[in-house]
Amino acid sequence: MRVDGERLREDFDALAAIGATPAGGVERPSLGDAHLAARAWFLARAEAAGLETSVDAAGNHSALLRRNGPTLLLGSHLDSVPNGGRFDGALGVVAALHVLLTVQAAGLELPLTLEAIDFTDEEGTLVGLLGSEALAGVLAAESLEAPRGGRAALAAGLARAGLREDRLADARRDPASLAAYLELHIEQGPVLECAGAQIGVVTGIVGARSYSLHFRGAAAHAGTTPMDARQDAGLAAASFAVAAEELVVRNFPGCVATVGDVRLEPGAYNVVPGSAHLALEFRALETPELDVLETALLDRARNEAARRGVELGITPVGRWEPTTLDAGLGAVIERVAGGLGLASMRLPSGAGHDAQVLAGITRAGMIFVPSVGGLSHAPGELTAWEDCVNGANVLLAAALAIALPRVASAA
Ligand code: GLV
Ligand code: MN
Ligand code: MN
Repeated sequence: MRVDGERLREDFDALAAIGATPAGGVERPSLGDAHLAARAWFLARAEAAGLETSVDAAGNHSALLRRNGPTLLLGSHLDSVPNGGRFDGALGVVAALHVLLTVQAAGLELPLTLEAIDFTDEEGTLVGLLGSEALAGVLAAESLEAPRGGRAALAAGLARAGLREDRLADARRDPASLAAYLELHIEQGPVLECAGAQIGVVTGIVGARSYSLHFRGAAAHAGTTPMDARQDAGLAAASFAVAAEELVVRNFPGCVATVGDVRLEPGAYNVVPGSAHLALEFRALETPELDVLETALLDRARNEAARRGVELGITPVGRWEPTTLDAGLGAVIERVAGGLGLASMRLPSGAGHDAQVLAGITRAGMIFVPSVGGLSHAPGELTAWEDCVNGANVLLAAALAIALPRVASAA
């Protein structure tokens, strides 16, 4: 049994047109108009095919092929980073939908419900992993109180989507109702391409922590304030950004830290910045390493602030735990990829995924397909179409192997 590659492509292209950018990517920030339109497209497409659909209290959108028995969740996300690519998340949702369509068209009666799910706010424009955390029952109150995108953006997004903050937790599912979770995703890095592998079997997912750092100095006249009499918040932020890179490169091989945004106030040619807001994110595959990295980075920020005579406010705005994915599902993915004649390799993920949350309540596995040039979170993000279809077929075969273990292993 195989997915219909042409129909898959038609649907992928239809989705990519929603929020399309001139550079060839998509702009679908979570719960913005384009994201909501993409979600509406997904439900309409599923309904037109005769599938049941549902939206839960956290806004997760689902298409279902309902049968007796537990639910095998197949999913990813339809939101994007600002000025993002067409494949990140969308491929996994469309492929999940096509697994349902393929099983439906074959008239195959599985002993479980297949559910294709589009999780809310995976990317963290607002909170990050919001929908999957709500579904897993681990959405923390602090995540909503101090979200990455700020309170105002979260409230506006929820209102736009018709969601209630005090009801998000109602999306929680009973773990006993789930058979497993599978996610197809582009790798977003160069490993598969460099190795010449067609399929990645994901072993684990990095943990990431985000902080909003606020350097508070003194705004002053840019012409009359001597260089040695300034409390320049902008320079404190800039020197911290450079120091953070040096620190990670020198002392934390395999880890990453990013200053993804800096906002200076008041923001004028002729005013020494009195205030600098900086977005810091860092990642590691193990919690102890993440802890040490966190201490080192925040100490460095305090030192840079002290050196320049400015105050520093530190606000945690996100925390995703490192996760090991299910080794048994990894073996299934490896086996079905081999059965399809595809070369696979195991690798960890440096990107965050809803699978890391689902792994807390059910068996979770991920399938990667190669990213051309390893590029992602940019409009030039690309995966060869043949690789997308391969990934969808591995998702289908893995789903069938989970649903019908004896039949699949005999085949
Ligand atoms: C999600 O794509 C992330 O890793 O930030
Ligand atoms: Mn993604
Ligand atoms: Mn992403």
